[in-house]
Amino acid sequence: MKFIIETYGCQMNVADSELVTSILLEAGHTAVCNIDEADLILFNTCSVRQHAEDRVLGRISNERNRKKSNPRLKIGVIGCMAQRIGTELMQQDLGIDFVAGVDQYDKLVQIIDEHDQNDYLDFDENQIYDYIQPQHQTGVCGFVTIMRGCNNYCSYCIVPYVRGRERSRPYESILKEINNAVHKGIKDITLLGQNVNSYMYQDMNFAKLMKRLNNETGISRLRFVTSHPKDLSDDLIEVMATAPKVCEHIHLPMQSGDNEILDKMSRKYTIEHYLRLIQKLRSAIPDIAITTDVIAGFPGETDSQFKNTIKAMREIAFDYAFCFKYSNRDGTLAAGFQDQIEEQVKLQRLQQLIDIQRKSTKQKFESQIGKLLEVLVEGKSKQGGKQLSGKTRDFKICVFDGEENRIGQLVKVNVIRATAGTLIGEQA
Ligand code: SAH
Ligand code: SF4
Ligand code: F3S
Repeated sequence: MKFIIETYGCQMNVADSELVTSILLEAGHTAVCNIDEADLILFNTCSVRQHAEDRVLGRISNERNRKKSNPRLKIGVIGCMAQRIGTELMQQDLGIDFVAGVDQYDKLVQIIDEHDQNDYLDFDENQIYDYIQPQHQTGVCGFVTIMRGCNNYCSYCIVPYVRGRERSRPYESILKEINNAVHKGIKDITLLGQNVNSYMYQDMNFAKLMKRLNNETGISRLRFVTSHPKDLSDDLIEVMATAPKVCEHIHLPMQSGDNEILDKMSRKYTIEHYLRLIQKLRSAIPDIAITTDVIAGFPGETDSQFKNTIKAMREIAFDYAFCFKYSNRDGTLAAGFQDQIEEQVKLQRLQQLIDIQRKSTKQKFESQIGKLLEVLVEGKSKQGGKQLSGKTRDFKICVFDGEENRIGQLVKVNVIRATAGTLIGEQA
């Protein structure tokens, strides 16, 4: 079949789509880029917020019309939303031919061929897909999954219910995937897990894993997401400060700046602990960029609790923050909290967070002017012309004029200007 995958949600899903691509190609199916040519459309879905689910449902209802002109067309739903409500999706008249959960991708080839419309949603606590080498999408940057699932049960979060229990991937298979990626020309690898700091394979923790990958692979840059503040160790900070391949960037979700809310979120750290981590990171790695996630309007959040979040954001001055409006997810602990916040208040608070962050991001970008930075060129910039686009080690987008043959290379760039989200430079 000619297939296309539409991916929603986090990098984990992007990596899973690469895995699924590999599985389907190996079985003789063909990947297409144009949906008009496809006779199999897979939606790799996200459940983290209601909005993410609504978007996909809208897309499915649009695409099912294609079945009128192409009776061969199959529509499959995979990923977190399939896992959460796959059975209901199959029962409704949505034009979906099959659903497959996150631990069932090794059966996809068989599932596609079946006509009995079963749902395949069982969890398999040992499933780590370490025998499959995923197809990396771009030739420059890649994601490598090092663990699956989550055991943290933050009270707002659906992920542990749709991704199952935490499991770590064996070192050898991580190493093999990175070496294969290096062989294909990939220079920048992001290691993925819901909480990479709790990686544990035999006696190898995350700090040791990073150190070994730094020493034993030919990759130019190593990154990782996501770090949970409760598990970020001094050893890891030390590795970040000393291992040359590990980039000067950490994504460290704060979620809230208020201790009572953090407690109700079951985050298991205080804002004081979080601030100490920021201090340690900044003193060990002076050029580090710190990004975060923040939620506005968690159940029961008072004005003064929200102000503590604003205070923390101002004090820390993140390079970037993904700000979210709390979304109630059925089945999570917080969904049962009585004191849900009015939509209007959530929206106002979200806007306040976004405004604060915009200023902080602008300042961070402007503070790069005059610096000589290493940029990994990913491709031509959307602006067109001779402009190339890439990322700095600390994960900022940088554009500059240069020849196309620099794509995939590390280039030294002088930063001469900055906008709210882009550095503009000249090749040194
Ligand atoms: N494992 C990662 C990220 C998981 S989801 C971590 O622990 O940080 C990505 C982000 O979505 C979270 O950090 C959180 O800020 C946000 N999020 C999760 N559930 C949410 C909900 N119910 N409403 C709003 N935002 C949510
Ligand atoms: Fe969700 Fe918390 Fe797990 Fe992150 S650590 S995926 S926020 S439960
Ligand atoms: Fe969404 Fe699943 Fe990721 S719920 S955020 S795609 S783990």
